[in-house]
Amino acid sequence: MTVAETSSAHLALAQRWISTQKPQISSLVRYGGLIDCLYVSIGRATINDLGRLCEIERECFTLEAFSRLQIAQLLENPHAISLVARVSSDIAGFIIGSIERVGEVVFGHIYTLDIAVKYRRKGIGMKLLNRLEQEFLEENVRECYLEARMNNTAALELYHKHGYARVKLLRNYYSKGSHGILLVKRLH
Ligand SMILES: CC(C)(COP(=O)(O)OP(=O)(O)OC[C@H]1O[C@@H](n2cnc3c(N)ncnc32)[C@H](O)[C@@H]1OP(=O)(O)O)[C@@H](O)C(=O)NCCC(=O)NCCS
Repeated sequence: MTVAETSSAHLALAQRWISTQKPQISSLVRYGGLIDCLYVSIGRATINDLGRLCEIERECFTLEAFSRLQIAQLLENPHAISLVARVSSDIAGFIIGSIERVGEVVFGHIYTLDIAVKYRRKGIGMKLLNRLEQEFLEENVRECYLEARMNNTAALELYHKHGYARVKLLRNYYSKGSHGILLVKRLH
């Protein structure tokens, strides 16, 4: 079964599965790297990062931003993987995904990828995506999916560059007249 073949009922089932299973994600990891002479380190996000994450989320999505409570719930969900990119002590961006099981099939679902405006176009989004995919692979995820707005050029370019294929138009996914696109990538 592929993501494209998976019905929304299956996905809803997977969401319920997530909330009832025990943690499977390994604990703290830290990775570093130089981008445009900025030292960027990637590490696990914790509840202590909540304030800054909400700030960045609002900067990225304004009225449609996840609420503080939603971000807190994602950070504390044992099946979610939440990573932050730090430049010195500042959080420049974050990514949150989770592992979903439908029967024997394991999918990675990316919920959000947010980079603060002043840190954009420095490769940080790509770096976070890379790291999340690696962590998915370590958890035996072979296919990864996400939804993006049809008019979100920056995100669509980034995902295209990173090997995601557009598999489905999601009509009125965000609100009436505001369509999304389902993007999928096979991980190796
Ligand atoms: C989309 C977003 C995460 C990209 O993060 P970023 O760190 O700036 O992206 P990167 O620097 O890693 O860019 C990697 C590639 O993506 C593409 N890209 C990124 N931003 C782009 C833009 N504004 N226009 C066109 N292409 C863009 C480019 O191909 C870029 O490579 P290049 O800089 O060598 O040309 C960031 O713009 C953001 O946070 N936007 C608001 C939140 C959002 O829409 N998140 C995605 C939700 S699905």
